[in-house]
Amino acid sequence: MTTAACRPDSRGMDNLAEFIRGLPKAELHLHIEGSLEPEQMFEFARRNRVSLPFASVEAVREAYAFSNLQDFLDIYYQGAGVLRTEQDFHDLAMAYFRRVAADGARHVELFFDPQTHTDRGLPFSVAAGGLLSGMAEAEQTLGVTSKLILCFLRHLPEEAAFATLKAAEPYLDRIVAVGLDSSEVGHPPSKFARVFKAARERGLKLVAHAGEEGPPAYVWEALDVLQVDRIDHGNRALEDPALVKRLTAEGMTLTVCPLSNLKLCVVDDLRAHPLKHMLALGLRATVNSDDPAYFGGYLAKNWFATAVALGLTREELATLARNSFTGSFLTPTETQAHLAAIDAYVVTES
Ligand code: HPA
Ligand code: ZN
Repeated sequence: MTTAACRPDSRGMDNLAEFIRGLPKAELHLHIEGSLEPEQMFEFARRNRVSLPFASVEAVREAYAFSNLQDFLDIYYQGAGVLRTEQDFHDLAMAYFRRVAADGARHVELFFDPQTHTDRGLPFSVAAGGLLSGMAEAEQTLGVTSKLILCFLRHLPEEAAFATLKAAEPYLDRIVAVGLDSSEVGHPPSKFARVFKAARERGLKLVAHAGEEGPPAYVWEALDVLQVDRIDHGNRALEDPALVKRLTAEGMTLTVCPLSNLKLCVVDDLRAHPLKHMLALGLRATVNSDDPAYFGGYLAKNWFATAVALGLTREELATLARNSFTGSFLTPTETQAHLAAIDAYVVTES
């Protein structure tokens, strides 16, 4: 039971929110198409003369009640249909960066799903070019650095992923990694063994969603077959002690997404979220927003809601912040500079 003396008062909550906002952080698991707010969906639909199956912004929000990952994906792919021009992708990226800069993010590694757009007839360059120009503007005007990750849609065949990697050729110097997203169960990482090998041979880093809904075996495959540098989500790894041991021994980063897990019913209550347990086990967990327009919050809200629900200490929050940089694809020198900023912040704030 929480006694009155231990219960944070509203001033404590304000201090916590302020502490989180000021803490230097990186976001490592963000699908840019998942930052499309309903208002923006209507704006892009209007300027591109696309008709939407929703009467209002409120009706869109009401549709965001999901029982699982597939429920969400169906509406998420439909929403992305309003994105038609490089300017749309640029504007989408800038809107996200403004929000995350206000949340105290210093660096972002963002996913995009090129197949969602090329399968609608847009050239690869529309999404990639618009996002890269938004990223450059965000760095210049907001001071937030970023890197772009190309995700393959795992419900599509491996040949389609190969075609996407080929279409990406002119952009590979501006893409840091490939990833794997979309419907997990029934589409194990091993389905993409060859295309991940090809990406690795081109010098790209590798990440994969695994253990969000899929079993621990999918996390093992991501490590052993794909040889990933990071695991996206990874929640179900906790079901397998040998896997936890492997992940901790390797210092493997898990990009955990608490509000996403709540919205997609991976957990039924944030107070039951395994994040604190992951840290206690020595796993290199990070906090991220996944698809913030759909899941109820951007980066700082994910941190705050989780900190309150799990009673995270400032030391644990600082560890999460350090993990977000040590797990990033920044250079060791860049990472060290961010870690020093966290140390300095923690000293002055405590
Ligand atoms: N999981 C899998 N695919 C996705 C997600 C996710 O959380 N968000 C966008 N695509
Ligand atoms: Zn995701």
